[in-house]
Amino acid sequence: MLPMSENEPVVQGPEGESAKPQEVEHRERPNSPAFRAFIASGWAPRPSELPARLPAAAYAAERRARLAAELPGERLVLPAGVFRVRSNDTDHRFRPHSAFAHLTGLGTDREPDAALVIEPTAEGFEAVLYVQPRAERDSEQFYADPRYGELWVGVRPSLEEVEAETGLTCRPLADLREAVTKDVGAVPVRVLREADPGLDEALAEAREAAGVDAAEALTADHDLARIVSELRLVKDEFEVAEMRRAVDATALGFADIVRALPEAVASVRGERVVETVFESRARREGNGVGYDTIAASGPHACTLHWIRNDGPVHENDLVLVDAGVEVDTLYTADVTRTLPVSGKFTEPQRRVYQAVLDAADAAFAAARPGVKFREVHAAAMQVIARTLAEWDLLPGTAEESLGKEGQFHRRWMVHGTSHHLGIDVHDCAQARKEMYLDAELQPGMVFTIEPGLYFGPHDLLAPEELRGIGVRIEDDVLVTADGVENLSAGLPRRPDEIEAWMASLRD
Ligand code: GLY
Ligand code: MN
Ligand code: MN
Repeated sequence: MLPMSENEPVVQGPEGESAKPQEVEHRERPNSPAFRAFIASGWAPRPSELPARLPAAAYAAERRARLAAELPGERLVLPAGVFRVRSNDTDHRFRPHSAFAHLTGLGTDREPDAALVIEPTAEGFEAVLYVQPRAERDSEQFYADPRYGELWVGVRPSLEEVEAETGLTCRPLADLREAVTKDVGAVPVRVLREADPGLDEALAEAREAAGVDAAEALTADHDLARIVSELRLVKDEFEVAEMRRAVDATALGFADIVRALPEAVASVRGERVVETVFESRARREGNGVGYDTIAASGPHACTLHWIRNDGPVHENDLVLVDAGVEVDTLYTADVTRTLPVSGKFTEPQRRVYQAVLDAADAAFAAARPGVKFREVHAAAMQVIARTLAEWDLLPGTAEESLGKEGQFHRRWMVHGTSHHLGIDVHDCAQARKEMYLDAELQPGMVFTIEPGLYFGPHDLLAPEELRGIGVRIEDDVLVTADGVENLSAGLPRRPDEIEAWMASLRD
């Protein structure tokens, strides 16, 4: 299907954002006055009832209050983001910026081009959502605009409807630039950069005209990105419930994979069978996958971000699957299971698996409030280093390897053990080190525990029988009052339990 309009297609800008439409001559759209009157007529009235308040709305209001309290007296601009061109005149599915989703409660594909503006007032602040209202049926957009038109992308909500859903004051998108750029210089303004390049540019011009120092503005904007990232370090009860839904849906996807393994073995591209079975579940249960699925069979497991997934799945290999369902509110799980395709681990596979499991268990045992985030990783690394020393793979002792100047064990696990998890798979990524790695765990934090060992097929330092074996076990945990709860405990992680679970799904 192609759009009808003569000038709608867009070309890709330097950053991949939508750029100016390019004229094309090979398409025609009906445009006579008679046609326009005809297409505008004969439609049922819009429903008069307003939609219900979003369950996230009250939580989002509380988050906005916390943000405004961090930067009192300032205008804060948080764009939803713009469509990204996928290919010529087709866009990627829209996903709002994570900070926008967090601070408005709007999820899935909601409100391209919109922006949340927190405006200082004498009483404190006012939060306003600038949003593209629905175009009526007598507009050209209604039938001729493949990006926003109702006949192309479905009916858009009215401003009143978005107000009802979010509890926010809503104003038309056409007023956004003025709202962002007015009084710049007199009012301190910060924008979350790169979400909406056009808005960045408009603000940059206004700042320049007002004599605002560009370097200071950059620092101020980066601070805003950091603050909204740090705001998500501790999840509220709504977020925890969404994380549970994401993890539960992910567990269903892993069970689907086990059932599909015979089909994967029979297929030339068995990894694609694994990937698509999971992604089918992800689309049915939620918005989709929270990140590209890694479906890595045999030696592909040693390529940490193996997302090509075009290899075969052999009966006697392990298959490492790193996958997460993102629910409609955009919270995602991030789970890895490494499964014996046949349903039974071989001895070398089990040996590597058990070593990784021991490292994961050590990390679980270390994780509790008051312990620093980095200590969870350190606990896993102790086990990894000791195991590799026992296997005589290290150039020295485990203690030497664990020292700053050594780290030899990291040859077989170059990634970290944990990262925060939430609306972004690597959530809170702009947080300062002292709020992340060096911070103490607090109840409500959600993060992964994901040690691994990867013996590449060409690794001459690895024992021959281990070459081509890669294992990662990744769970999602919630910090509680006295430890952590494993949110992904519904998926077996011990070798005997995995074998029994796989057998039960294949009966
Ligand atoms: N799936 C990406 C990660 O585990 O961090
Ligand atoms: Mn992860
Ligand atoms: Mn992962």
